[in-house]
Amino acid sequence: MNNFDFHNPTHIVFGKDRIADLATLVPAAAKVLILVGGSSAEKTGTLAEVRQALGSRAHATFTGIEPNPSFDTAMQAVHQVREGGFDFLLAVGGGSVIDAAKFIAAAALFEGDAWDILLKGGANIRRALPFGTVLTLPATGSEMNKGGVITRRDIGAKLPFRSQHVYPQFSVLDPTKTYTLPPQQLANGVVDAFVHTVEQYLTYPVNAPLQDRFAEGILQTLIDVGPRLLTAPEPVYDDRANLVWAATLALNGLIGSGVPQDWATHMVGHELTALHNIDHARTLAIVLPAMLDERRVQKHAKLLQYGDRVWGIRTGNEDERITATIVATRDFFERMGIPTRLSAYGLGAEAIDVLIAQLTEHGMTRLGEHGDITPEVSRRVLQAAL
Ligand code: NZQ
Ligand code: ZN
Repeated sequence: MNNFDFHNPTHIVFGKDRIADLATLVPAAAKVLILVGGSSAEKTGTLAEVRQALGSRAHATFTGIEPNPSFDTAMQAVHQVREGGFDFLLAVGGGSVIDAAKFIAAAALFEGDAWDILLKGGANIRRALPFGTVLTLPATGSEMNKGGVITRRDIGAKLPFRSQHVYPQFSVLDPTKTYTLPPQQLANGVVDAFVHTVEQYLTYPVNAPLQDRFAEGILQTLIDVGPRLLTAPEPVYDDRANLVWAATLALNGLIGSGVPQDWATHMVGHELTALHNIDHARTLAIVLPAMLDERRVQKHAKLLQYGDRVWGIRTGNEDERITATIVATRDFFERMGIPTRLSAYGLGAEAIDVLIAQLTEHGMTRLGEHGDITPEVSRRVLQAAL
């Protein structure tokens, strides 16, 4: 096992009717800026519940954080925070609203051009406003981690940042808040959490059997629950609860501690979102099967373990088992209603040159657990994903 630090300060408040707990979770004297996306938090009544729980605390609402949150929108919120003297942020939404809250929390106290935060991947964040979250879409794990992703549409850039200073103080995880999600967002959540787990598990063995078993447990839970979420005539509380907790644990630092991590699929996927506005999880479903096939030599031992323990693939020679494992992964995404080929999103070979140029422009030239996925390797992956 590799050396590691693990320190996760986020207080998880899980279960039905827990939004009322905001009454004690948010400091009594706080001046709160609530951050929401488009209209879902208002329509579902969650925003009203949040406001009620805040009671007599001074608060205002910033609306309009878009999926794949933009730098410009986040900076408008930074302006409101500074002008209004807000000292606590409350993100109510999915990964986009929570990521934006992290960026706004850091940018509000940042001296200089806040775009530098993204150019340095967050390494220059020295402090941030405190904030909490109310999660409405289980997928990203942002509710219990220190990362975020911000987009600048004018230059087609979608850049990640990380900092110890942007862990949420608390996150309210009420599984009933997922009941209003459309099937496409539920499927996105399952696939995003699945690929987060794979990025930290499917590398090379370092004799970390506990992390492996945690990861395999998350993958098996998602495979079990995922298809049922799409077919159930009415939402089933336990399935929603298991999805929420699986998605949180998939990216809260636990399963990635002490093991190598990949993230190449995510970095290539971000370029697809930035240039073609494809949902984050869908980009992963396109890239991952092709990436695994390209990396079958480097990931040989773990692919066999994953096939055996997660998919029960035990017959055939090693090469055949690896092929069957990759096919099973692709089929799972397709069963979740998510197409896994670029062509299904209207993209052909002509799209690849620009994607590779952007990847290079963003410094994504030595990706993967071995740092050997060059732009040429990424090109082969995209070609295989056509
Ligand atoms: O904008 P509103 O109207 O609120 O609607 C949202 C949005 O359109 C809707 N929604 C959310 N909760 C709902 C709901 N609709 C009905 N009922 C509810 N309860 O869902 C749509 C998508 O929301 P979004 O927040 O964009 O989705 P997601 O949670 O998948 O977040 C995606 C973003 O997170 C980033 C992605 O790159 C992307 O920008 N990621 C963040 C990570 C992290 N911080 O660790 C890791 C991930 O790999 C990912 O990169
Ligand atoms: Zn993701």
